[in-house]
Amino acid sequence: MEPIFIPSNSNRLDIPIDPSEEEFNYSFTGFESKLNINSYETIATIGSGSYGEVCIVKDKKSTNEIYALKKVFYADVNDAELIKKRAIRERDAMIACNKNTNCRSPKLYCSFIDKDEGVFYFLMEFIGGGDLNSYCYRRIVEGKKFTMDEIKFYIAELVCILEAFHNLGFIHRDIKPENIMIDRDGHLILGDYGSSKQVHNVNHSGNSGASHSSSVPSAGTSGAGSANAHWLEQNNKPFGNTPPNFQSFLRNPNSSYTSYIGTPQYMAVEVVQGVVYSKLCDYWSLGAILFELITGQALFVESPDTTEQKIRENIGNWRGLLNTAISKNQPLSKVQESLIRELIAPERKRIDATGIKKHPFFEGIDWSAIQDRTAEPPFKPTLSHNGDYSYFQSSN
Ligand SMILES: Nc1ncnc2c1ncn2[C@@H]1O[C@H](COP(=O)(O)OP(=O)(O)OP(=O)(O)O)[C@@H](O)[C@H]1O
Ligand SMILES: [Mg+2]
Repeated sequence: MEPIFIPSNSNRLDIPIDPSEEEFNYSFTGFESKLNINSYETIATIGSGSYGEVCIVKDKKSTNEIYALKKVFYADVNDAELIKKRAIRERDAMIACNKNTNCRSPKLYCSFIDKDEGVFYFLMEFIGGGDLNSYCYRRIVEGKKFTMDEIKFYIAELVCILEAFHNLGFIHRDIKPENIMIDRDGHLILGDYGSSKQVHNVNHSGNSGASHSSSVPSAGTSGAGSANAHWLEQNNKPFGNTPPNFQSFLRNPNSSYTSYIGTPQYMAVEVVQGVVYSKLCDYWSLGAILFELITGQALFVESPDTTEQKIRENIGNWRGLLNTAISKNQPLSKVQESLIRELIAPERKRIDATGIKKHPFFEGIDWSAIQDRTAEPPFKPTLSHNGDYSYFQSSN
């Protein structure tokens, strides 16, 4: 498979970016007059990240219109240039998704800047069922493990979501349960496109032809890129808190084909190692989610105290640790183990959507029903009204 090269020179800090309204503002028909934060009243904060937050808001002029409003703060922070770049990417990815009926992203109604406050705003459709991470947490608290039918459904929906996004020419690079939401019907919606990247050389064939037997990776090929592992962008840390080689990496023309991005726990080995990567990095993340749904354990995270640095080291040594994790979490069926190993695999052996769909793990799945969302979701949120945010209560 031909790799997708991701030039990261465009992220260099010496290219000044001063976003203007013309550059960032966007409105869906009917929202032209609403590009102003004063048009909205905040009802509750439902999520907060390292450089922003997501609130539920209502349109002051209408009693019924409820939205999710994502705020990304760029004033008075280090690396504001990167934050601006991410905001523009996020907007572009959402607009592209909204235009494609196969994509499952929240509808973006408008995006605007408050230059005085230094905030990017994204006014989105509010997805009421909460995120997959909170749902997994609730299931653990209730002591209800996911059944295989439930796991098949959620992973199958994610496969179709990733395939559609990749076919648009994007890689997401931050696939994790927090960024996957559940809509009012129980279907999955992919969010948080700030880490996504549009690529110009999308290979649609991928490694779909890989065999379906358990692919125990051969030893001896890992670690080649670790000397190049640099920190360009990392999703769950403030950009201000970056390792010392950050600036020099950005200015080093030799490092222009790698980009370090994502969330350590779900990051593909080639991303951690800073070598060239492709859409297949999203399928590694899918494999990490699959492992977590089946076993209830996070892959490569030994305990709640495991540091990010240690998680990255563990991913660098993934072969041995995957074997240990699999033997610790028996009984995994042969078919479950096989799919995990087809995804948590070296990039050149990893399967993509075409290969995943043929895997025996999904025996009995009606892919066209998954694709067109006629398959019955195993869980349907109970929402009393449009702005019911009870599935987000723990964030407040
Ligand atoms: N459209 C939406 N509807 C409902 N909830 C949302 C929506 N968008 C985001 N959320 C909630 O807010 C949380 C944070 O959103 P998001 O992942 O986009 O921001 P973030 O992780 O802070 O972003 P970034 O990685 O760009 O800093 C999500 O995990 C989800 O729970
Ligand atoms: Mg997020």
